[in-house]
Amino acid sequence: MNIVLGITGGIAAYKAPDLVRRLRERGAEIQIVMTASAEEFVTGTALQAVSGKPIRSNLWDKEAEAAMSHIELARWADVVLIAPATAEVMARIVSGAAPDLLTTICLATEAPIALAPAMNHVMWNNPATQANRAVLEERGIHIVGPGIGSQACGEEGAGRMLEPDAIAATVFNLTGGKGQGLLEGRKVVVTAGPTREAIDPVRYITNRSSGKMGYGIASAAAAQGADVVLISGPVNLPEPPGLEIIRVESAKDMFVATHEAIRGADIFIAAAAVADYRPSAIANQKIKKHDESMTLQLTRCPDILASVAALDAAPFTIGFAAETEKLAEYARGKLEKKKLDMIVANRVGQDCGFDRDDNAATVLWNGGERSFPTSSKVELARNLIELAAEHFYAVRGPETQPRLSIISNND
Ligand code: CTP
Repeated sequence: MNIVLGITGGIAAYKAPDLVRRLRERGAEIQIVMTASAEEFVTGTALQAVSGKPIRSNLWDKEAEAAMSHIELARWADVVLIAPATAEVMARIVSGAAPDLLTTICLATEAPIALAPAMNHVMWNNPATQANRAVLEERGIHIVGPGIGSQACGEEGAGRMLEPDAIAATVFNLTGGKGQGLLEGRKVVVTAGPTREAIDPVRYITNRSSGKMGYGIASAAAAQGADVVLISGPVNLPEPPGLEIIRVESAKDMFVATHEAIRGADIFIAAAAVADYRPSAIANQKIKKHDESMTLQLTRCPDILASVAALDAAPFTIGFAAETEKLAEYARGKLEKKKLDMIVANRVGQDCGFDRDDNAATVLWNGGERSFPTSSKVELARNLIELAAEHFYAVRGPETQPRLSIISNND
Protein backbone atom coordinates (compact mmCIF):
# COMPACT_ATOMS: atom_id res chain seq x y z
CA MET A 1 0.00 0.00 0.00
CA ASN A 2 1.36 3.43 -0.95
CA ILE A 3 0.76 6.02 1.73
CA VAL A 4 1.39 9.74 1.48
CA LEU A 5 1.94 10.63 5.12
CA GLY A 6 1.36 14.32 5.72
CA ILE A 7 2.89 15.74 8.89
CA THR A 8 1.71 19.12 10.11
CA GLY A 9 2.96 21.37 12.89
CA GLY A 10 1.72 19.98 16.18
CA ILE A 11 3.65 18.66 19.15
CA ALA A 12 2.37 15.14 18.36
CA ALA A 13 4.67 15.26 15.29
CA TYR A 14 7.29 13.74 17.59
CA LYS A 15 5.34 10.46 17.24
CA ALA A 16 5.66 10.53 13.44
CA PRO A 17 8.80 8.33 13.22
CA ASP A 18 7.01 5.65 15.28
CA LEU A 19 3.94 5.94 13.06
CA VAL A 20 6.13 5.46 9.96
CA ARG A 21 7.57 2.28 11.47
CA ARG A 22 4.13 0.92 12.38
CA LEU A 23 2.92 1.52 8.82
CA ARG A 24 6.04 -0.03 7.29
CA GLU A 25 5.71 -3.08 9.56
CA ARG A 26 2.47 -3.72 7.73
CA GLY A 27 4.21 -3.54 4.39
CA ALA A 28 3.29 0.04 3.39
CA GLU A 29 5.50 2.28 1.30
CA ILE A 30 5.60 5.75 2.78
CA GLN A 31 6.20 9.10 1.13
CA ILE A 32 6.38 11.79 3.78
CA VAL A 33 5.16 15.27 3.00
CA MET A 34 5.89 17.81 5.74
CA THR A 35 4.53 21.31 6.15
CA ALA A 36 6.91 24.12 7.07
CA SER A 37 5.58 24.23 10.64
CA ALA A 38 6.05 20.45 11.08
CA GLU A 39 9.77 21.05 10.60
CA GLU A 40 9.68 23.00 13.87
CA PHE A 41 8.79 19.78 15.73
CA VAL A 42 10.54 16.90 13.99
CA THR A 43 13.53 16.77 11.66
CA GLY A 44 13.38 15.65 8.05
CA THR A 45 16.58 13.70 8.68
CA ALA A 46 14.94 11.42 11.25
CA LEU A 47 11.89 10.92 9.04
CA GLN A 48 13.97 10.20 5.96
CA ALA A 49 15.89 7.56 7.94
CA VAL A 50 12.73 5.71 9.06
CA SER A 51 10.78 6.09 5.81
CA GLY A 52 13.73 5.25 3.56
CA LYS A 53 12.75 8.03 1.13
CA PRO A 54 13.68 11.71 0.77
CA ILE A 55 11.11 13.96 2.43
CA ARG A 56 8.92 16.21 0.29
CA SER A 57 7.97 19.57 1.70
CA ASN A 58 8.13 22.20 -0.98
CA LEU A 59 5.69 22.59 -3.85
CA TRP A 60 8.32 24.61 -5.71
CA ASP A 61 11.20 22.10 -5.40
CA LYS A 62 12.02 21.72 -9.11
CA GLU A 63 14.22 18.64 -8.72
CA ALA A 64 11.72 16.71 -6.63
CA GLU A 65 8.83 17.77 -8.88
CA ALA A 66 10.75 16.59 -11.93
CA ALA A 67 11.21 13.14 -10.31
CA MET A 68 7.54 12.88 -9.24
CA SER A 69 5.23 15.83 -9.59
CA HIS A 70 2.61 16.63 -6.96
CA ILE A 71 -0.04 15.32 -9.36
CA GLU A 72 1.84 12.04 -9.79
CA LEU A 73 2.27 11.82 -6.04
CA ALA A 74 -1.48 12.35 -5.57
CA ARG A 75 -2.12 9.50 -8.04
CA TRP A 76 0.56 7.24 -6.53
CA ALA A 77 -1.13 7.32 -3.11
CA ASP A 78 -3.53 4.54 -2.14
CA VAL A 79 -4.30 6.65 0.89
CA VAL A 80 -3.35 10.11 2.12
CA LEU A 81 -2.92 10.16 5.89
CA ILE A 82 -2.28 13.37 7.81
CA ALA A 83 -0.97 12.75 11.33
CA PRO A 84 -0.85 14.90 13.29
CA ALA A 85 -3.53 17.04 11.65
CA THR A 86 -3.77 20.54 13.12
CA ALA A 87 -6.92 22.67 13.28
CA GLU A 88 -5.26 24.79 10.58
CA VAL A 89 -4.86 21.97 8.05
CA MET A 90 -8.45 20.83 8.68
CA ALA A 91 -9.65 24.37 7.93
CA ARG A 92 -7.55 24.57 4.77
CA ILE A 93 -8.86 21.28 3.43
CA VAL A 94 -12.44 22.37 4.15
CA SER A 95 -11.91 25.63 2.26
CA GLY A 96 -10.10 24.01 -0.66
CA ALA A 97 -7.12 26.32 -0.19
CA ALA A 98 -3.90 24.72 -1.40
CA PRO A 99 -0.98 26.97 -0.55
CA ASP A 100 1.50 24.13 0.01
CA LEU A 101 2.40 20.65 -1.26
CA LEU A 102 0.33 18.72 1.28
CA THR A 103 -2.95 20.57 0.77
CA THR A 104 -2.39 20.52 -3.00
CA ILE A 105 -2.10 16.73 -2.88
CA CYS A 106 -5.31 16.60 -0.84
CA LEU A 107 -7.10 18.52 -3.62
CA ALA A 108 -5.53 16.47 -6.38
CA THR A 109 -5.96 12.95 -5.03
CA GLU A 110 -8.78 10.52 -5.59
CA ALA A 111 -7.49 8.24 -2.84
CA PRO A 112 -9.16 8.09 0.59
CA ILE A 113 -7.95 10.77 2.99
CA ALA A 114 -7.60 10.16 6.74
CA LEU A 115 -6.81 12.79 9.33
CA ALA A 116 -5.59 12.11 12.87
CA PRO A 117 -6.34 15.39 14.65
CA ALA A 118 -4.03 16.55 17.43
CA MET A 119 -4.57 19.80 19.26
CA ASN A 120 -5.43 21.40 22.58
CA HIS A 121 -8.90 20.31 23.78
CA VAL A 122 -10.32 23.84 23.65
CA MET A 123 -9.19 24.17 20.04
CA TRP A 124 -10.74 20.78 19.23
CA ASN A 125 -14.04 21.73 20.88
CA ASN A 126 -14.11 25.16 19.26
CA PRO A 127 -17.28 25.42 17.12
CA ALA A 128 -15.13 26.33 14.07
CA THR A 129 -13.08 23.11 14.38
CA GLN A 130 -16.16 21.02 15.05
CA ALA A 131 -17.93 22.53 12.03
CA ASN A 132 -14.85 21.71 9.93
CA ARG A 133 -14.79 18.16 11.27
CA ALA A 134 -18.45 17.72 10.33
CA VAL A 135 -17.85 19.02 6.78
CA LEU A 136 -14.82 16.79 6.32
CA GLU A 137 -16.77 13.74 7.50
CA GLU A 138 -19.66 14.64 5.19
CA ARG A 139 -17.20 14.66 2.31
CA GLY A 140 -16.03 11.17 3.20
CA ILE A 141 -12.76 12.16 4.83
CA HIS A 142 -11.95 9.82 7.71
CA ILE A 143 -11.30 11.43 11.07
CA VAL A 144 -9.21 9.05 13.16
CA GLY A 145 -9.53 10.03 16.82
CA PRO A 146 -8.62 12.19 18.57
CA GLY A 147 -8.12 10.43 21.91
CA ILE A 148 -9.04 11.78 25.33
CA GLY A 149 -6.45 12.23 28.06
CA SER A 150 -3.59 14.35 29.31
CA GLN A 151 -2.26 16.80 26.77
CA ALA A 152 1.18 18.27 26.06
CA CYS A 153 -0.07 21.62 27.43
CA GLY A 154 -0.70 19.93 30.80
CA GLU A 155 -4.49 19.99 30.48
CA GLU A 156 -6.92 17.08 30.12
CA GLY A 157 -9.48 16.52 27.40
CA ALA A 158 -10.19 15.40 23.84
CA GLY A 159 -7.52 16.32 21.31
CA ARG A 160 -4.61 13.91 21.81
CA MET A 161 -3.40 12.21 18.68
CA LEU A 162 -4.18 8.49 18.86
CA GLU A 163 -1.24 6.13 19.35
CA PRO A 164 0.65 5.28 16.14
CA ASP A 165 -0.40 1.61 16.31
CA ALA A 166 -4.08 2.52 16.47
CA ILE A 167 -3.74 4.99 13.58
CA ALA A 168 -1.89 2.42 11.46
CA ALA A 169 -4.52 -0.25 12.17
CA THR A 170 -7.36 2.12 11.26
CA VAL A 171 -5.75 3.24 8.03
CA PHE A 172 -5.27 -0.34 6.90
CA ASN A 173 -8.82 -1.26 7.85
CA LEU A 174 -10.22 1.80 6.04
CA THR A 175 -8.69 0.79 2.79
CA GLY A 176 -9.62 -2.88 3.10
CA GLY A 177 -5.97 -3.87 3.07
CA LYS A 178 -4.84 -5.38 6.33
CA GLY A 179 -1.20 -5.45 5.36
CA GLN A 180 0.99 -8.23 6.59
CA GLY A 181 0.24 -8.33 10.29
CA LEU A 182 1.13 -11.35 12.42
CA LEU A 183 -2.56 -12.08 13.05
CA GLU A 184 -3.96 -11.34 9.64
CA GLY A 185 -7.20 -13.29 9.09
CA ARG A 186 -7.36 -14.37 12.75
CA LYS A 187 -10.26 -13.63 15.08
CA VAL A 188 -9.25 -12.42 18.53
CA VAL A 189 -11.68 -11.85 21.41
CA VAL A 190 -10.48 -9.70 24.32
CA THR A 191 -12.21 -8.88 27.61
CA ALA A 192 -11.19 -5.66 29.36
CA GLY A 193 -11.96 -3.40 32.29
CA PRO A 194 -13.79 -4.06 35.53
CA THR A 195 -17.31 -5.40 35.98
CA ARG A 196 -20.04 -3.82 38.10
CA GLU A 197 -22.13 -6.06 40.30
CA ALA A 198 -25.32 -4.32 41.33
CA ILE A 199 -26.38 -4.21 44.98
CA ASP A 200 -29.46 -2.05 44.45
CA PRO A 201 -30.51 0.50 41.78
CA VAL A 202 -27.78 2.97 42.86
CA ARG A 203 -24.93 0.89 44.28
CA TYR A 204 -22.55 -1.69 42.96
CA ILE A 205 -19.35 -3.61 43.72
CA THR A 206 -16.42 -3.00 41.37
CA ASN A 207 -12.60 -2.80 41.34
CA ARG A 208 -9.77 -0.46 40.33
CA SER A 209 -9.22 -1.81 36.79
CA SER A 210 -8.94 1.02 34.24
CA GLY A 211 -9.16 -1.24 31.18
CA LYS A 212 -5.96 0.25 29.74
CA MET A 213 -4.16 -3.10 29.46
CA GLY A 214 -7.07 -4.85 27.75
CA TYR A 215 -7.69 -1.92 25.40
CA GLY A 216 -3.96 -1.86 24.57
CA ILE A 217 -4.04 -5.58 23.81
CA ALA A 218 -7.13 -5.28 21.63
CA SER A 219 -5.52 -2.40 19.67
CA ALA A 220 -2.24 -4.29 19.34
CA ALA A 221 -4.07 -7.35 17.98
CA ALA A 222 -5.99 -5.18 15.50
CA ALA A 223 -2.71 -3.54 14.49
CA GLN A 224 -1.41 -7.02 13.66
CA GLY A 225 -4.32 -7.50 11.28
CA ALA A 226 -6.67 -9.50 13.52
CA ASP A 227 -10.47 -9.14 13.51
CA VAL A 228 -10.92 -8.09 17.11
CA VAL A 229 -14.00 -8.18 19.32
CA LEU A 230 -13.40 -6.20 22.50
CA ILE A 231 -15.83 -6.95 25.32
CA SER A 232 -15.50 -4.08 27.71
CA GLY A 233 -16.70 -3.43 31.22
CA PRO A 234 -17.40 0.20 32.20
CA VAL A 235 -14.25 2.23 31.55
CA ASN A 236 -13.37 5.81 30.82
CA LEU A 237 -11.31 5.27 27.67
CA PRO A 238 -11.76 6.36 24.06
CA GLU A 239 -13.06 3.65 21.70
CA PRO A 240 -10.09 2.14 19.89
CA PRO A 241 -10.61 2.35 16.15
CA GLY A 242 -10.59 -0.64 13.82
CA LEU A 243 -12.32 -3.16 16.05
CA GLU A 244 -15.76 -4.20 17.28
CA ILE A 245 -16.59 -3.18 20.82
CA ILE A 246 -19.32 -4.70 22.97
CA ARG A 247 -20.07 -2.89 26.22
CA VAL A 248 -21.22 -4.82 29.26
CA GLU A 249 -21.66 -4.14 32.97
CA SER A 250 -21.75 -7.30 35.05
CA ALA A 251 -19.73 -10.53 35.04
CA LYS A 252 -22.88 -12.35 33.88
CA ASP A 253 -23.27 -9.97 30.89
CA MET A 254 -19.58 -10.40 30.07
CA PHE A 255 -19.95 -14.18 30.22
CA VAL A 256 -22.88 -14.14 27.76
CA ALA A 257 -21.21 -11.64 25.40
CA THR A 258 -17.97 -13.62 25.42
CA HIS A 259 -19.66 -16.92 24.58
CA GLU A 260 -21.54 -15.24 21.75
CA ALA A 261 -18.36 -13.69 20.36
CA ILE A 262 -16.12 -16.71 20.85
CA ARG A 263 -17.55 -18.73 17.96
CA GLY A 264 -14.84 -19.01 15.31
CA ALA A 265 -12.27 -17.21 17.48
CA ASP A 266 -8.62 -18.23 17.20
CA ILE A 267 -7.39 -16.47 20.32
CA PHE A 268 -9.15 -15.42 23.54
CA ILE A 269 -7.43 -12.99 25.90
CA ALA A 270 -9.11 -12.42 29.26
CA ALA A 271 -7.68 -9.12 30.44
CA ALA A 272 -10.81 -8.06 32.32
CA ALA A 273 -10.83 -7.83 36.10
CA VAL A 274 -14.05 -9.79 36.47
CA ALA A 275 -15.76 -9.79 39.83
CA ASP A 276 -15.35 -13.13 41.58
CA TYR A 277 -18.55 -12.61 43.58
CA ARG A 278 -21.80 -10.72 43.06
CA PRO A 279 -24.60 -9.88 45.51
CA SER A 280 -26.87 -12.92 45.71
CA ALA A 281 -29.92 -10.71 45.27
CA ILE A 282 -30.25 -7.23 43.76
CA ALA A 283 -32.64 -5.09 45.80
CA ASN A 284 -35.39 -3.52 43.67
CA GLN A 285 -35.35 -0.34 45.72
CA LYS A 286 -32.49 1.62 47.27
CA ILE A 287 -31.48 -0.14 50.48
CA LYS A 288 -32.13 2.02 53.54
CA LYS A 289 -29.78 2.09 56.51
CA HIS A 290 -31.16 0.64 59.76
CA ASP A 291 -28.68 -1.27 61.89
CA GLU A 292 -25.08 -0.47 62.84
CA SER A 293 -23.84 -3.20 60.54
CA MET A 294 -25.23 -5.12 57.62
CA THR A 295 -24.22 -8.28 55.78
CA LEU A 296 -24.20 -8.69 52.06
CA GLN A 297 -24.67 -12.25 50.83
CA LEU A 298 -22.44 -12.92 47.80
CA THR A 299 -22.54 -15.64 45.15
CA ARG A 300 -19.63 -16.79 42.95
CA CYS A 301 -19.65 -15.33 39.44
CA PRO A 302 -19.11 -17.67 36.49
CA ASP A 303 -15.43 -17.93 35.52
CA ILE A 304 -15.42 -16.71 31.92
CA LEU A 305 -11.82 -17.65 31.24
CA ALA A 306 -12.09 -21.20 32.58
CA SER A 307 -15.37 -21.74 30.73
CA VAL A 308 -13.79 -20.71 27.39
CA ALA A 309 -10.70 -22.86 27.98
CA ALA A 310 -13.01 -25.84 28.68
CA LEU A 311 -14.88 -25.56 25.35
CA ASP A 312 -14.46 -28.48 22.93
CA ALA A 313 -13.23 -26.11 20.24
CA ALA A 314 -11.39 -23.81 22.65
CA PRO A 315 -9.39 -21.02 21.08
CA PHE A 316 -5.78 -20.39 22.12
CA THR A 317 -6.61 -19.04 25.57
CA ILE A 318 -4.65 -16.48 27.55
CA GLY A 319 -5.48 -15.37 31.08
CA PHE A 320 -4.16 -12.71 33.40
CA ALA A 321 -3.11 -13.10 37.00
CA ALA A 322 -2.95 -9.95 39.07
CA GLU A 323 -1.16 -10.77 42.30
CA THR A 324 0.21 -8.87 45.26
CA GLU A 325 2.61 -11.72 46.23
CA LYS A 326 4.06 -15.06 44.99
CA LEU A 327 3.51 -13.89 41.42
CA ALA A 328 4.93 -16.81 39.42
CA GLU A 329 3.67 -19.50 41.81
CA TYR A 330 0.07 -18.28 41.87
CA ALA A 331 0.07 -17.58 38.14
CA ARG A 332 1.36 -21.06 37.27
CA GLY A 333 -1.33 -22.51 39.53
CA LYS A 334 -4.01 -20.64 37.56
CA LEU A 335 -2.43 -21.68 34.24
CA GLU A 336 -2.78 -25.33 35.19
CA LYS A 337 -6.09 -25.17 37.03
CA LYS A 338 -7.88 -23.25 34.29
CA LYS A 339 -6.11 -25.25 31.50
CA LEU A 340 -4.81 -22.15 29.74
CA ASP A 341 -2.29 -21.89 26.93
CA MET A 342 -0.63 -18.84 28.51
CA ILE A 343 -0.95 -16.58 31.50
CA VAL A 344 0.25 -13.01 31.95
CA ALA A 345 1.25 -12.39 35.55
CA ASN A 346 1.58 -8.89 36.86
CA ARG A 347 2.03 -7.39 40.24
CA VAL A 348 -0.74 -5.18 41.60
CA GLY A 349 -0.85 -2.98 44.65
CA GLN A 350 0.54 0.37 45.57
CA ASP A 351 2.43 2.01 42.67
CA CYS A 352 1.93 -0.83 40.21
CA GLY A 353 -0.71 -2.57 38.13
CA PHE A 354 -4.21 -1.10 38.08
CA ASP A 355 -5.08 2.36 36.83
CA ARG A 356 -1.58 3.24 35.62
CA ASP A 357 -0.10 3.84 32.18
CA ASP A 358 2.83 1.46 32.63
CA ASN A 359 3.24 -2.12 33.73
CA ALA A 360 5.69 -5.02 33.89
CA ALA A 361 4.68 -8.63 33.31
CA THR A 362 5.89 -12.22 33.28
CA VAL A 363 4.25 -14.51 30.77
CA LEU A 364 4.13 -18.20 31.64
CA TRP A 365 3.21 -21.23 29.57
CA ASN A 366 3.66 -24.94 29.85
CA GLY A 367 7.42 -25.36 29.85
CA GLY A 368 8.56 -21.75 29.70
CA GLU A 369 8.26 -18.14 30.73
CA ARG A 370 9.36 -14.70 29.61
CA SER A 371 9.57 -11.44 31.55
CA PHE A 372 8.93 -7.97 30.18
CA PRO A 373 10.33 -5.06 32.20
CA THR A 374 8.23 -2.00 33.04
CA SER A 375 7.12 -0.16 29.91
CA SER A 376 4.04 1.68 28.74
CA LYS A 377 0.95 -0.53 28.56
CA VAL A 378 0.84 0.18 24.80
CA GLU A 379 4.40 -1.15 24.37
CA LEU A 380 3.76 -4.08 26.69
CA ALA A 381 0.55 -4.94 24.81
CA ARG A 382 2.48 -4.98 21.53
CA ASN A 383 5.08 -7.35 23.00
CA LEU A 384 2.40 -9.60 24.49
CA ILE A 385 0.57 -9.88 21.19
CA GLU A 386 3.79 -10.76 19.34
CA LEU A 387 4.57 -13.46 21.90
CA ALA A 388 0.98 -14.74 21.82
CA ALA A 389 1.06 -14.96 18.01
CA GLU A 390 4.35 -16.86 18.12
CA HIS A 391 2.94 -19.44 20.56
CA PHE A 392 -0.42 -19.61 18.81
CA TYR A 393 1.26 -20.68 15.57
CA ALA A 394 3.58 -23.04 17.44
CA VAL A 395 0.56 -24.79 19.00
CA ARG A 396 -1.86 -24.59 16.07
CA GLY A 397 0.66 -25.38 13.34
CA PRO A 398 3.08 -23.08 11.55
CA GLU A 399 1.40 -23.82 8.19
CA THR A 400 -1.42 -21.54 9.31
CA GLN A 401 0.98 -18.61 9.73
CA PRO A 402 0.75 -15.77 7.19
CA ARG A 403 3.85 -15.04 5.16
CA LEU A 404 5.46 -12.09 6.82
CA SER A 405 7.88 -9.35 6.07
CA ILE A 406 8.09 -7.69 9.44
CA ILE A 407 10.61 -5.02 10.31
CA SER A 408 12.24 -6.05 13.57
CA ASN A 409 11.16 -4.11 16.63
CA ASN A 410 14.78 -3.67 17.53
CA ASP A 411 15.95 -1.98 14.34
N1 CTP B 1 -11.60 -14.25 35.04
C1 CTP B 1 -12.73 -14.51 34.31
N2 CTP B 1 -13.93 -14.64 34.93
C2 CTP B 1 -14.05 -14.53 36.25
C3 CTP B 1 -12.91 -14.24 37.02
C4 CTP B 1 -11.71 -14.10 36.40
O1 CTP B 1 -12.63 -14.60 33.08
N3 CTP B 1 -15.22 -14.66 36.82
C5 CTP B 1 -10.30 -14.13 34.38
C6 CTP B 1 -9.68 -12.78 34.40
O2 CTP B 1 -10.05 -12.04 33.23
C7 CTP B 1 -8.20 -13.10 34.40
C8 CTP B 1 -8.15 -14.35 35.23
O3 CTP B 1 -9.41 -14.97 35.10
O4 CTP B 1 -7.73 -13.42 33.12
C9 CTP B 1 -7.89 -14.08 36.68
O5 CTP B 1 -8.01 -15.27 37.36
P1 CTP B 1 -8.67 -15.38 38.81
O6 CTP B 1 -8.38 -16.72 39.33
O7 CTP B 1 -10.09 -15.02 38.82
O8 CTP B 1 -7.89 -14.27 39.51
P2 CTP B 1 -8.31 -13.63 40.81
O9 CTP B 1 -9.71 -13.11 40.77
O10 CTP B 1 -7.26 -12.62 41.09
O11 CTP B 1 -8.28 -14.91 41.71
P3 CTP B 1 -7.82 -15.04 43.20
O12 CTP B 1 -8.63 -14.02 43.89
O13 CTP B 1 -8.18 -16.43 43.51
O14 CTP B 1 -6.35 -14.77 43.18
